Amino acid sequence: MGTALVTGATSGIGLSIARQLAGHGHDLVLVARNLERLETLAGEISRQFRVDCEVLAADLCDPQQCQVVEDRLADADRPVEWLVNNAGFAFKHAFDVSSVEAEQAQLDVLVRAPMRLTHAALPGMLARSRGRILIVSSVAGFIPGGTYSAEKAFTTVFAESLSGAYSAAGVHVTALCPGYTHTELHQRAEMDMSKLPSWLWLDADFVAEAGLKACEAGRAVCVPGAVYKGIQLATALLPRPLLRRAIGRSSR
Ligand SMILES: NC(=O)c1ccc[n+]([C@@H]2O[C@H](COP(=O)([O-])OP(=O)(O)OC[C@H]3O[C@@H](n4cnc5c(N)ncnc54)[C@H](OP(=O)(O)O)[C@@H]3O)[C@@H](O)[C@H]2O)c1
Repeated sequence: MGTALVTGATSGIGLSIARQLAGHGHDLVLVARNLERLETLAGEISRQFRVDCEVLAADLCDPQQCQVVEDRLADADRPVEWLVNNAGFAFKHAFDVSSVEAEQAQLDVLVRAPMRLTHAALPGMLARSRGRILIVSSVAGFIPGGTYSAEKAFTTVFAESLSGAYSAAGVHVTALCPGYTHTELHQRAEMDMSKLPSWLWLDADFVAEAGLKACEAGRAVCVPGAVYKGIQLATALLPRPLLRRAIGRSSR
C-alpha cells in the first residue's frame, strides 16, 4: 500500500480520512500546525493500524512552510500515492468587516495551498501512472455565499478540471463537497450553530468514507448524503438572481 499525505489531519474530516486510509494499510504523512497534536495522533494511528506515520508541522498560509510539504510531495524517493487537500477554516464575519489578513489567510489555505500541493504531487503520480488526489471542498461552493464559497467554487472546478485531464492517465482527482459536518470548524470560528436542525448535520466518518470511495472510483465530484444531493440539485435549478438575493440578505 502506498503513502497518503493528508493536510489538516489533526481533527474533523481530515482525521477521519487519515484513520480510514491507515485502516486500508496506507502509511501516512500527517500535516497541520499543531506539532504536539500531530505527534500524539501519529503514535495512536501507527500503533492501532501498524502503519508508518510521519508528521510535518506546517502552517499552509506561510509560503516557506507550505514549500516543505511541496518538497515532500515531489520527493521521487518517497512517493506519495494519495494527496488529501483537506486543511481549512472559516470565519463568521461578512466581507465588509473582516480583516484583509484573515481573508488572505483563508485564501491561502483553501486555494493557494491545494493548488501548489497538487502541482507538486501530480508529475510523480503521472510518471507512475497512479495517484489519487482528494480535495475537500464544500456545498458552499455551489452558492454565492462570500469568499469561503468563492474559494470552495475554485477547488471544486479545479478538481473537476484535473479529473477530466488526468483520469485516463491513472490519476483520479475528486472534489469532496460536504454540507454541515460535526468537526471543530464552527467552534474554532465561534459560530453559533445551535439553531441548525439535526438533520442537516453529517458525521465526519461518513463524509470521509464517501470521499475516499468516490476518489477510488474516479468520480470528479462527491456530495455526501441525500439531503445535500437535493440541495445541490435545488441550487442548480433555482434562478441565480433569486439565490443571490436570498443568500446576500442572510450573510450580512
Ligand atoms: N465542518 C463542516 O461543516 C465543513 C463543511 C464543508 C467543508 N468543510 C471543509 O472540510 C475541511 C476540514 O475542515 P473540518 O470541518 O474538518 O475542520 P476542523 O475540525 O477545524 O479541522 C481543520 C484542520 O485543518 C488544520 N488547519 C487549519 N488551518 C491550517 C493552516 N493554516 N495550516 C495547516 N493546517 C491547518 C487544523 O489543524 P491545526 O489547527 O493544527 O493547523 C485541522 O487539522 C476544510 O477544508 C473545510 O472547509 C467543512
